[in-house]
Amino acid sequence: MNDTPSLSDGARDALMTAAREAASAAYAPYSRFHVGAALLMADGSVVTGANVENASYGLSLCAETVAVAKILSGTRLAVEAVAVTGGAPGEAGQGTRVTPCGRCRQVLNEIAQVGGTDPLVWCDGAEGVLELRLSQLLPHAFGPANLL
Ligand code: THU
Repeated sequence: MNDTPSLSDGARDALMTAAREAASAAYAPYSRFHVGAALLMADGSVVTGANVENASYGLSLCAETVAVAKILSGTRLAVEAVAVTGGAPGEAGQGTRVTPCGRCRQVLNEIAQVGGTDPLVWCDGAEGVLELRLSQLLPHAFGPANLL
């Protein structure tokens, strides 16, 4: 498991901008809480996701889960950093800070284990961006190694 080296403020700001843009594509007519996630890959590319809700509320997908599904069904490159934002339509990042929900932490752990990284997670909010490692958000995670 490799700690991503600390990334520049510029890299963080660019990834958060991508997450905010992703939030604008959210399909969230029920909660009207638009979430965007942007994942920085080892080759410098960025994969984004937005939350996708369902009239059967419990079937809704979180933004982070949508982004991870794209990656695990595609390049499967290592993920170095994750930016998450959310809020009222057009106001992502302007309210209470958004941290990944518990299920998304587990989903993110899968891609961290596949790529052998402990990604930085940047959580957006009006009070500023909180930087954590995924391992801080999900200590003692259950992962592929537990199945060996
Ligand atoms: N949501 C996310 O997309 N990611 C999270 O980590 C937390 C919650 C979504 C789910 C639902 O569509 C809306 O935010 C309100 O809970």
